[in-house]
Amino acid sequence: MGSYTISNHVFLILMHILYAIAKSNVLPQATVTLCHDHERSALLQFKQSLSLNKSASYDPSAYPKTESWKASGEFSSDCCSWYGVECDDTTGYVVGLHLGSSLLYGPLRSNSTIFSLVHLQTLNLADNNFRTSPIPPEIAQLSSLINLNLSLSGFSGQIPPQLSGMSNLTSIDLSTNKFCGGFPVAIFDLPALLVLNVSGNKNLTGFLPEFNQTNSLTALELASTKFSGNLPAAIGNLQSLAKLQLEECLFSGSIPASIGNLTELTYLSLSSNMFTKQGKLIWLDRLIKLTVLSLEDTNLYGDIPPSLANLTRLTTLSLGSNNFSGVIPLWLMNMTQLTTLSLHQNKLAGPIKSSFSQLKNLESLYLHDNNLIGTVEAGIFLSLEKLTSLTLSYNKITLLAHHPVNFTLPKLKMLQLSQCNLSEIPYFLKFQNSLEVLLLRGNNIHGEIPHWIWNASDHLETIDLSANFLTAMKHNPMALQSKSLIVIDISNNMLKGNLPLPPPNTVQYIVSNNRLTGDIPPMICDGKSIKILDLSNNSMSGPLPQCLSSSLEALILQENNFSGTVPQICPSECNLRVMDLSRNQLSGEVPKSLLNCNMLQILDLSNNQMEQTFPNWLGNLPQLQVLLLRSNKFHGAVGSPRIHTEFPMLRIIDLSQNSFTGNLPLEYIKIWNAMKVFRPDIEMYINTEVNFENRRVQWTESFQSSIILTNKGVKRVYIKILNTFTAVDLSSNKFTGKIPEHFGSLEALRLLDLSNNELMGPIPPSLGNLTQLESLDLSHNKLSGFIPQELAAQLNFLEFFNVSYNNLSGPIPQGLQFKTFDNNSYIGNSGLCGFPLSKICGCVQSLAADDDEEEDDNNISDDQFPGGFDWVFILSGLGSGLVTGFVMGNILTDKHPWLIAGIAQKLRGKQKNMKRRKRQIIPDQTMVQVCNHK
Ligand SMILES: *[C@@H]1O[C@H](CO)[C@@H](O)[C@H](O)[C@H]1NC(C)=O
Ligand SMILES: *[C@@H]1O[C@H](CO)[C@@H](O)[C@H](O)[C@H]1NC(C)=O
Ligand SMILES: *[C@@H]1O[C@H](CO)[C@@H](O)[C@H](O)[C@H]1NC(C)=O
Ligand SMILES: *[C@@H]1O[C@H](CO)[C@@H](O)[C@H](O)[C@H]1NC(C)=O
Ligand SMILES: *[C@@H]1O[C@H](CO)[C@@H](O)[C@H](O)[C@H]1NC(C)=O
Ligand SMILES: *[C@@H]1O[C@H](CO)[C@@H](O)[C@H](O)[C@H]1NC(C)=O
Repeated sequence: MGSYTISNHVFLILMHILYAIAKSNVLPQATVTLCHDHERSALLQFKQSLSLNKSASYDPSAYPKTESWKASGEFSSDCCSWYGVECDDTTGYVVGLHLGSSLLYGPLRSNSTIFSLVHLQTLNLADNNFRTSPIPPEIAQLSSLINLNLSLSGFSGQIPPQLSGMSNLTSIDLSTNKFCGGFPVAIFDLPALLVLNVSGNKNLTGFLPEFNQTNSLTALELASTKFSGNLPAAIGNLQSLAKLQLEECLFSGSIPASIGNLTELTYLSLSSNMFTKQGKLIWLDRLIKLTVLSLEDTNLYGDIPPSLANLTRLTTLSLGSNNFSGVIPLWLMNMTQLTTLSLHQNKLAGPIKSSFSQLKNLESLYLHDNNLIGTVEAGIFLSLEKLTSLTLSYNKITLLAHHPVNFTLPKLKMLQLSQCNLSEIPYFLKFQNSLEVLLLRGNNIHGEIPHWIWNASDHLETIDLSANFLTAMKHNPMALQSKSLIVIDISNNMLKGNLPLPPPNTVQYIVSNNRLTGDIPPMICDGKSIKILDLSNNSMSGPLPQCLSSSLEALILQENNFSGTVPQICPSECNLRVMDLSRNQLSGEVPKSLLNCNMLQILDLSNNQMEQTFPNWLGNLPQLQVLLLRSNKFHGAVGSPRIHTEFPMLRIIDLSQNSFTGNLPLEYIKIWNAMKVFRPDIEMYINTEVNFENRRVQWTESFQSSIILTNKGVKRVYIKILNTFTAVDLSSNKFTGKIPEHFGSLEALRLLDLSNNELMGPIPPSLGNLTQLESLDLSHNKLSGFIPQELAAQLNFLEFFNVSYNNLSGPIPQGLQFKTFDNNSYIGNSGLCGFPLSKICGCVQSLAADDDEEEDDNNISDDQFPGGFDWVFILSGLGSGLVTGFVMGNILTDKHPWLIAGIAQKLRGKQKNMKRRKRQIIPDQTMVQVCNHK
């Protein structure tokens, strides 16, 4: 009994102690029901199933919330007090998990204990890294869920269709993951759904349903997905819609006027879809609540619609990349609430009115690539105190920037003034210490580059002073001082003196087409980030530095006076895609270290003094497409490949003007497989794309290397190379023997030059299989026999043909292209006869049924446009073709419109030409009766 009493007493004391602890607990909610054990252990298991990793979250203020979740110790028992965990006050069940930006790292598996928290109403796992795991369908067990946020969390795979059964969902944010497959359309029917965001899932396909009026969506965000099809007129039924964000999808058809019924809209973006041409935007004027309207690249034309004037709350108006014409309307100057106005890449004409200075709230103004004219005072824009981005490039304006300014200057971050007829570097830039991007290409700026330009801003990342008349760097500094600069283009000027060293973080340094002298300072090797180095067309000399950085992707040193041997570039690691050392005085052998350059596409060593036998080991480079060794001292037999997989991608080879001997390289011809299949369907330019990314800016530059080839008897410079162009130039060597029949297997060839060798025997009829051939030069050899009829019958694109100075005999075949060749193609062959030669073929009857149409006068002539439509003739003074694009907030490009337009025009011209010729292919009706000439 006694013992019982004592026990009972102890029990009572214990109860008192517990009560006291409970009362004195620091947590005011301590009286609230503690969390349920099974949920507590579910949370702990969820925590354990994932690791923590600093790189898993982007938000700089991210922290590991689950670290406070402990199995033992203070507060360990009350999971409701853990960071990110929210419990229901009365039931104690976990109803919210707020784990955004929590550094969670690892896959979310379908057996995750998180799915047993069936009372959850809010689940936020945004900005973590679930390592491309799919969203488990088990998520549907969380049937009470109201808010689901899984954005930016490294999920991939399909969106589980089971979501459409979670009838209480009001907000779904799955944006910026890697979903693929189709969007489950039934999700649109969720009865409570207000917000749906799947933007930034680049491979997610889907289409919009016939919405009906019961739908209460307030935000529909599908930007940067592959949603396609028409925008249904029923979209006008989404009467509560405030935000409609559909940019960068694949929507087509026309924009339905019913959008004009969405009078609650504050945000509307339809930019960059595939809409058909649309003129009138009559539906706009009722959307008076709009603050953001983005209709870039939506195929709009005509005047800027006056109905916009009613949208007095607009802060962002983006109409760039359309076909708007007419003048910039005056009523626009009354929209003083605007912070962003983009009208770039249209056909807007007329002057830039000084009333722009009324738009006092403007932060970004994009007017580049229009037809604006007249003289403009920079002061109009400099009086806009909030302005950070201004683009005026590629109009027809003359910008006056030399006036002293007597007001507070804006703090510009981006300024694009290319082709603005500036006669000097604007002095106000000296006070622009926030500048990040400065483009002054193609102005009239003479004289020295002022020293302050490099230091004006600590943030300057990109500077383009190319295509001006700059003569020197002020004080000709050894090195440019600016830690932030990553892109420097000072090409196409008249810069003299030594090469200034780029700052250490420079990624792209373009100094081509100047008058620089001296050697490359060895310190250039300190630049560990450099990807593109272009010093072409200068007068630099001396040896190449031994230590060129392994970060280099394009090394362009064409047309200088560099001498000595080519160093063992990139001894360990190599990222080179283009190496062009042509037109120098380099000697020695091709460095074997190039074997590390698995990505090398273009190797141009032509016009040097390199001396060795054929560097057959280059055959191991898997990406090599263009190999140019012209005009060196290569010698000996070309030999045979060791294995049949060598040179798998090679499509242009130029070994001309060397001292190669022996037979033509038959065994190589057999394995040059890239020259055997003509695939016009995969045409694109060979280029190196260089991706830049830093704090805020991300963009891609694509760099095309120019090369020189002899085509149709003339040396030509080309700034772009189509990957379908194929050429073999073995001319001006000492090759002997016959032309192998196997040449006929290189069916994609456009250019074949075997001239100036010692070749004998007949022209193989198999050359008639080279149906893409545009230029065939066999002149200055010892070829004999007849010119095969197959050439005249099958080479529909042949524009240049030369067999002069051989021992050919017999009648010249007639038909198709052959009627266009003159005497020069045949002279020096005493035995040839027939048109165009005056020598008549004795008893020969040449019945050429040749019913060609006359050349279309609109066709571009070959002189203007050499080598077929894939080659673009260099524009004088342009140097290497560099198309520059920037992406900053709104997409902006500062490019060479004249260049691109020129290319497009030429492409069209040539394609037309090609079509016409194709139509012309007719059954061969040419008959030649051959007789003995002797
Ligand atoms: C979940 O499944 C994985 C394997 O798929 C296994 O390693 C893990 O132990 C399982 N977790 C639980 C809580 O069952
Ligand atoms: C959905 O919400 C309603 C209203 O709040 C509630 O009564 C119902 O229980 C919820 N459904 C589920 C499955 O939790
Ligand atoms: C989209 O699909 C393409 C082709 O299947 C693939 O190369 C690409 O990586 C995918 N992109 C993303 C973001 O998943
Ligand atoms: C609207 O659509 C929902 C979901 O598809 C459907 O349940 C409802 O019946 C439709 N209402 C009308 C009036 O058509
Ligand atoms: C806008 O809504 C009204 C009323 O619902 C309707 O009559 C009209 O057809 C709609 N307009 C368009 C262009 O769809
Ligand atoms: C648009 O503005 C014009 C002129 O201010 C006015 O006449 C017209 O009624 C307005 N339209 C709407 C729909 O408010």
